[in-house]
Amino acid sequence: MKIDLTVDGMAVTAEVDPGETLLPFLRRLGAASVKNGCDNGDCGACAVLVDGRAVNACLFFAAKAAGSEITTAEALAGADGLHPLQTASLDLGAVQCGFCTPGILMTALDLLAYNPDPTEEEVRHWLAANYCRCTGWVKPVEAVLAAASMLREQEAS
Ligand code: FES
Ligand code: FES
Repeated sequence: MKIDLTVDGMAVTAEVDPGETLLPFLRRLGAASVKNGCDNGDCGACAVLVDGRAVNACLFFAAKAAGSEITTAEALAGADGLHPLQTASLDLGAVQCGFCTPGILMTALDLLAYNPDPTEEEVRHWLAANYCRCTGWVKPVEAVLAAASMLREQEAS
């Protein structure tokens, strides 16, 4: 079947198999940031936004995304440069192998849309389903808190 949807701001019409999830579908479209860590809903590496909310792409049927707006980490950087979540992650050393990073960034983006001033505990709770085997979690949490602060400053100026 064919579906129409928006991926990172671009209108897309594409063929999907009935059982295909968003993970292979988006990678087929070229979104290499959508990572397959487990293909089972356990690691969060594949997280993308569907109509603004973070979902694990490996659990979400592509056919169900018809008419939706999908945002992947590929769309985070804009004409003004990197998104504050990306800048803070790089500046604070929150990226090591980077495999988990796109999923963490998209999950954090959902958090900051919902709660622009989260506590450390709220960030840790929100990211509890995103696994990172490298960083020990201190730096990614610090990066989300720093990005939240940068975004609030941008909003206020
Ligand atoms: S690949 Fe989707 S949650 Fe792990
Ligand atoms: S930076 Fe390697 S898994 Fe998170």
